[in-house]
Amino acid sequence: MNFMNDNIRPRRLRKSETLRDMVREVRLSPKSLIYPLFLKEGNNIKSEISSLPNNFHYSPDRVGEAVEEALKNDVRSILLFGLPDHKDEVGSQAYDENGIIQQGIRKIKDEYPEMQIITDVCMCEYTSHGHCGILHNHDVDNDKTLDYIARIALSHVQAGADMVAPSDMMDGRIDAIRRVLDENGYNDTAIMSYAVKYASAFYGPFRDAAGSAPSFGNRKSYQMDYHNKREALKEALLDVSEGADILMVKPALSYLDVIKEVKENTNLPLAAYSVSGEYAMIKAAAAQGLIDEYGVMCESTVGIYRAGADILISYFAKEIAQAIKKGDIG
Ligand code: PBG
Repeated sequence: MNFMNDNIRPRRLRKSETLRDMVREVRLSPKSLIYPLFLKEGNNIKSEISSLPNNFHYSPDRVGEAVEEALKNDVRSILLFGLPDHKDEVGSQAYDENGIIQQGIRKIKDEYPEMQIITDVCMCEYTSHGHCGILHNHDVDNDKTLDYIARIALSHVQAGADMVAPSDMMDGRIDAIRRVLDENGYNDTAIMSYAVKYASAFYGPFRDAAGSAPSFGNRKSYQMDYHNKREALKEALLDVSEGADILMVKPALSYLDVIKEVKENTNLPLAAYSVSGEYAMIKAAAAQGLIDEYGVMCESTVGIYRAGADILISYFAKEIAQAIKKGDIG
């Protein structure tokens, strides 16, 4: 039987695996993956993070194991988070030259200079109240916080970080960091801005992992309202004008439209952060036998790149790299 347009048959291009692989529209590389790592003060620690199965807290003396595993899978960039022993009102361990992150950076750079180290620049893991800045009357004081954020970024770079990634969502922070880095001779150190970061329930497992849940209130006065897409562009363009080198949208899976919007309206490389809740949901559903973990990981990863991401930060980074190598995706 004939049908309308029967000379055009999309199925022709789905006939064999070779052909399907040839016409794929999205091409992936492990080189575009960033793997988050959690450093914890102490010795001989490698302990699984219960909210993020198969991710671990490492003390600096053992973090090399994680770095080596990542490199073995061709994952060449890590995003470092720190869990200090001591917290206070101003998060002073965040900019201490012997803080957990600074120790970790030196250790990793010493043993694995080829690993690109990006550091999360924020205060919530370091403050006793768990907010991302300096408090004033139960809210975060934007301008006061800027000095601290810039100081933290500088101390990471002085310890050897290749790139800094501020996640605090204070207004003006890219400018503040850029100035301080430049004044200290680090003109060529890049800033990856968490430019578009929503106040999200998907960060729950991370806050358990990093001990960074706010002790009161929430982060809605500094992170974005998830109803807003035009505001995403406002944030992104501000960071471009302040000198950001890479932009990020976070979370990823519920924000694919935002990724597309930012990609189409800016000209910087765009990262997407598939956050802890996205990872934990896949892990939990798979553990219950409800979904195929590998299949869902592959499909959701490609979805994020298809939306426009150039770079992906994921707790599945090593597994995604393996899937790309096998040719299952990309
Ligand atoms: C620090 C920070 C958070 C995440 C990255 N950096 C937590 C937050 O903002 O509460 C979340 C990462 C994830 O959920 O995987 N501000």
